Amino acid sequence: ADLDTFIARLPKAELHLHIEGSLEPELMFALAQRNGVTIPFASVEEVRAAYSFTRLQDFLDIYYAGADVLRTARDFHDLAAAYFDRTAADGVVHAEIMFDPQTHTARGVSFDTVMEGLLSAVAEAEAKHGMTVKLILCFLRHLSEEEAFATLEQARPWLDRITAVGLDSSELGHPPEKFARVFADARALGLRLVAHAGEEGPPEYVHQALDLLDVDRLDHGNRSLEDPVLTARLARTGMTLTVCPLSNLKLCVVNDMADHPIDHMLRQGLRATINSDDPAYFGGYVADNYRAAAAARGLDRRDLATLARNSFLGSFLPDDAVAAHL
Ligand code: HPA
Ligand code: ZN
Repeated sequence: ADLDTFIARLPKAELHLHIEGSLEPELMFALAQRNGVTIPFASVEEVRAAYSFTRLQDFLDIYYAGADVLRTARDFHDLAAAYFDRTAADGVVHAEIMFDPQTHTARGVSFDTVMEGLLSAVAEAEAKHGMTVKLILCFLRHLSEEEAFATLEQARPWLDRITAVGLDSSELGHPPEKFARVFADARALGLRLVAHAGEEGPPEYVHQALDLLDVDRLDHGNRSLEDPVLTARLARTGMTLTVCPLSNLKLCVVNDMADHPIDHMLRQGLRATINSDDPAYFGGYVADNYRAAAAARGLDRRDLATLARNSFLGSFLPDDAVAAHL
């Protein structure tokens, strides 16, 4: 219980969070009712029972279906506000949250509607919780390069309120190289760059994220450990890995939390961080992820403090704000 309190009180940044993945079943039902949308579940219990996955794609299918209840700016506001309230209670003082505009524009919800709702919740959370928030626009990698370019174009009026672009969705068969030109344009527009790599995909995809996308940060990155030269490179360059223990367990990236490599990552000098990914689907928010990893791998206070410190060092906060958090 002592370590639990230590974890909850430890100031931390969350760097890998999909806001659509924070949609709790209760809110899914409330929004379905408010918008007159039919969802393929009869009860909250039925929704939770459906959250059993053997691979990333099983989860993605249900995650995109759930997002269909999100229609208005108020819906996006309520979604994000619930996340900020919940994560503030976990000791998160800075959050860099990802959103998937293409999941919404494909359903006729405008890019502007998504932004208006998210930004009003951000302003509210900054005032209410004293937290800071940055937004990361993710491209869906199962869609085309052309569609990613069109999304970047829609983002143009909002670029002063978007910090970075990312790459998510089905990894296998959609290597980073598919988006090299989009990422180069995003970089030229002054955006920071992140990408999911090495969650299900091989170490080669991590190499591509580094060499062809020039990412500032790697999301997941677990499979980098299969390549000692790559691991040494990540350590040497101080690359941040946004690791998500409960996600890794739920999506069978690890078979058991006892097999999670988080402590090996730290011992090998990797700048690993702990994050929740899609907390409504994977069974826990950020403090739950710290607790699960600590219990399974025997992390002590020093390790937990290193992970929290890494979260600020790996953030896109300016140096003076990072220093103020260390
Ligand atoms: N991987 C890929 N795409 C995603 C994820 C993830 O863990 N969560 C939401 N979209
Ligand atoms: Zn993710």
